[in-house]
Amino acid sequence: MAQSSQSSRDQHGRYAAQTVPAVHRVRSAAEDVALGFAEQPKRLPPKYFYDDHGSRLFDAICDTAEYYPMRTEGQLLAESAASIMAAVQPGHILELGSGTSRKTEHLLAAAADQGQAPHYWAFDVCDSIMASAGERLHQRFPWLGMSVLLGDYGAGLAHLPRPDGRCLYLFLGGSLGNFEPEESARVLGEIAEHMRSGDRLLLGVDRVKDRSVLKAAYDDAAGATAAFNRNVLNVLNREVGADFDPEAFAHEAFFNEAQSRIEMHLISQRDQSVHVGALGRDYAFPVGERLHTEISRKFTPDSLADELARAGLAMAEHYQPSDGAFSLVLAAPRY
Ligand code: AVJ
Repeated sequence: MAQSSQSSRDQHGRYAAQTVPAVHRVRSAAEDVALGFAEQPKRLPPKYFYDDHGSRLFDAICDTAEYYPMRTEGQLLAESAASIMAAVQPGHILELGSGTSRKTEHLLAAAADQGQAPHYWAFDVCDSIMASAGERLHQRFPWLGMSVLLGDYGAGLAHLPRPDGRCLYLFLGGSLGNFEPEESARVLGEIAEHMRSGDRLLLGVDRVKDRSVLKAAYDDAAGATAAFNRNVLNVLNREVGADFDPEAFAHEAFFNEAQSRIEMHLISQRDQSVHVGALGRDYAFPVGERLHTEISRKFTPDSLADELARAGLAMAEHYQPSDGAFSLVLAAPRY
């Protein structure tokens, strides 16, 4: 049944946002730098990549020939949307980290084809991206009721609205891979906790494959990923009053076989010292010193099943291309 009457639009026809209060306090950039730079090697949470410029650089990465995950997930979703919507028939679709909601259109189109009219709940940290996504979705799907949830899913999900009726949760883009196993178990566990028995989670994750293919995806020939990686230093210069020279750091990406993950690092190209104004101190970056900026975990069907099981979820359906390059999993709560 259509629930468009529930969407809260303001007098300009835009979607009004509702803030999802944080459950756990989120660390400030200065705290993340103080903690991360005290580790050996120094490290930084990957969320700092995504300022406006960084988000554009990520789009540029997605346009390179080497970076297959977004493209592969999009194709897989286009092919499996009808089957997913027929299986779940959700009254609501709630997307964590909805961004531009591009891939969600496949599911909404399949819903419309099947005479379904789910309500769409977009949940993201960026208000303006959700507003423009809402305008675009409204053009294509005039029947769509949409609610905008503004917040950080990393800050806990206990205050996330729990709509009445069956809910399909979306966690796409392979973002789960950016979390260490303990963190991803916590995020998936919180989603599982939020779910009722008929609800489903559609999760997209990247798969283990030939290491040269993996490495190239994170070290493209045109240098889009290198620019994306270095841009995090511009973000730190702004956010914590640092004085990094991004050109004095080299991009490195490699597949860590033992931990089944891509690692991205920035490597100091000369002996240098960086001042961090917000912390009132300097950090030494001798030549060769590393700043570990990202992990991107790659799964096998078995490691994926384990990951779900640890969070109290079970695999209900598994959609994958014939070469096994990417997985879309429909997961159900185990009880
Ligand atoms: C957006 C987290 C899925 O890990 O592949 C792309 C980010 N980093 N190239 C990924 C990313 C370098 C991307 N995710």
